[in-house]
Amino acid sequence: MAEALPVCASEALQERGLAVQWELLYCGLEERAFAVRVDGQVVAYLNRCGHVPTELDWQPNAFWDDSRQYLICAVHGALYSPRTGACLGGRCGRMGLIPVAVSERDGQVHWYPSDTLQPLPDAPASSP
Ligand code: FES
Repeated sequence: MAEALPVCASEALQERGLAVQWELLYCGLEERAFAVRVDGQVVAYLNRCGHVPTELDWQPNAFWDDSRQYLICAVHGALYSPRTGACLGGRCGRMGLIPVAVSERDGQVHWYPSDTLQPLPDAPASSP
């Protein structure tokens, strides 16, 4: 697995609470990813709707619908599974969210680059 890069302290992610975002490169373009906690687990996705490639959150870091069961795009209301990123309704069609690999250990959340997701050139150093 690729090197682990820091996202935030575990305590920054409350169950179905506000997200933590960070910048990265997606296919060479500067974009943002977000991490949330659902059922105790941290999950992360690229902040890019499957309908139109725009960010989902209108209010910064607010990705949950009113029921706090689904992730929602504030632009046209597409709903996504927080566990898988799959589109569950709305204009996202069959396009789900793009997952970002994350882990949580010793009170810290980290993400892992991939072929398409890379750190910014000036990103914080990796963890041991
Ligand atoms: S841009 Fe997200 S539902 Fe249209």
